[in-house]
Amino acid sequence: MTTTLQVPYLDLGRVRRRIAAPLEQRWQRILETSAFVLGPEVRELERRFADFLAVPACAGVANGTDALVLSLRALGVGAGDEVILPAFSFFATVEAVLLAGGVPVFCDIDAATFNLDPADAAARVTPRTKGIIGVHLYGRPFDVDAVLRLCDRHGLWLLEDAAQAHGALHGGRRVGGLGRLAAWSFYPTKNLGCFGDGGAVTGGDGELVERVRRLANHGMTSRYHHVEIGVNSRLDSLQAAVLNCRLTLLEADNARRRELALAGAGDLALPPADPPGSLSVYHQLTVRTSRRDALMRHLAEHGVTTSIHYPSPLPRQPALAGTAAALVPAGELPAATAAAAQVLCLPMFPELSNEEVEAVCEAVQGFFA
Ligand SMILES: Cc1ncc(COP(=O)(O)O)c(C=O)c1O
Repeated sequence: MTTTLQVPYLDLGRVRRRIAAPLEQRWQRILETSAFVLGPEVRELERRFADFLAVPACAGVANGTDALVLSLRALGVGAGDEVILPAFSFFATVEAVLLAGGVPVFCDIDAATFNLDPADAAARVTPRTKGIIGVHLYGRPFDVDAVLRLCDRHGLWLLEDAAQAHGALHGGRRVGGLGRLAAWSFYPTKNLGCFGDGGAVTGGDGELVERVRRLANHGMTSRYHHVEIGVNSRLDSLQAAVLNCRLTLLEADNARRRELALAGAGDLALPPADPPGSLSVYHQLTVRTSRRDALMRHLAEHGVTTSIHYPSPLPRQPALAGTAAALVPAGELPAATAAAAQVLCLPMFPELSNEEVEAVCEAVQGFFA
């Protein structure tokens, strides 16, 4: 009797086993020194991550949502300021604008890449627009050049939501240093993830990143001297130690993700190839089909766990009912609305075996045959 190979959507236990020895050493050192918050591990991570991205500055924070909120605050977003963002992303992207006191203005996405559509974003600019949040969704860089041209034309800033794109390239440069600031999440499932919550803000403007660092630590400039109202959003050292271990592996892990995505590319309706100079890091491997729910059921029956990122366009989230953001009619965002109904994310993590990938491809082929 043959048993079906069970392919998990993600198996963080495999990550833990790969870094067990160096992590044990780092954690031991933290426990011995009691440097639990913003200690040497955090400083090391900030320096190494900035070097990896080739940006001058990085500030660790408690999570990716805070990274977005504090970036928006550092950029000066206040009451009535409009911020354009794609209608298809994780909820935190819009939540951050509202938490910072701004007004989210949704734009549609490009149907092929799932990333923000610069032409549609251009149509949403008003005299109240202050900036644009671009999300490198699923690890694929959005059209940064087109968005920067739009920003230049109207005097806007660009904030990169890079939560899903650790190591991705656009125009030969790493994302995370292409706008005024970039917000990162180190949530466990991310390409660079810790074993709890973590985040960071990077950018080319050292002063702006320092402002984020200060906001993340009660607006404090020296011990018990507070020059503005901040929050407690510090990165803890045990998490930074995990990230220091995983950062060493990130390039190889991303290469493996690309290899896995290409293995499926012949059979699956995957996003188009990267344009020259760009490199996706496949945080998610996303296929689209009008028979999405049936495909999901079929794969589950064949031992393959999948996930939907995201089942609803942001403006349709109940939490936004009654806010200005919810006033965008669904008909104006056809690509985001269609994506939410059709996308399915397949298992994608560097530790997937070739056998598991073959099982996924076969199960998908079986559905469409
Ligand atoms: C695109 C995007 N933005 C923001 C976030 C928020 O990050 P966190 O969960 O670390 O707060 C996430 C992660 O979940 C994300 O995927």
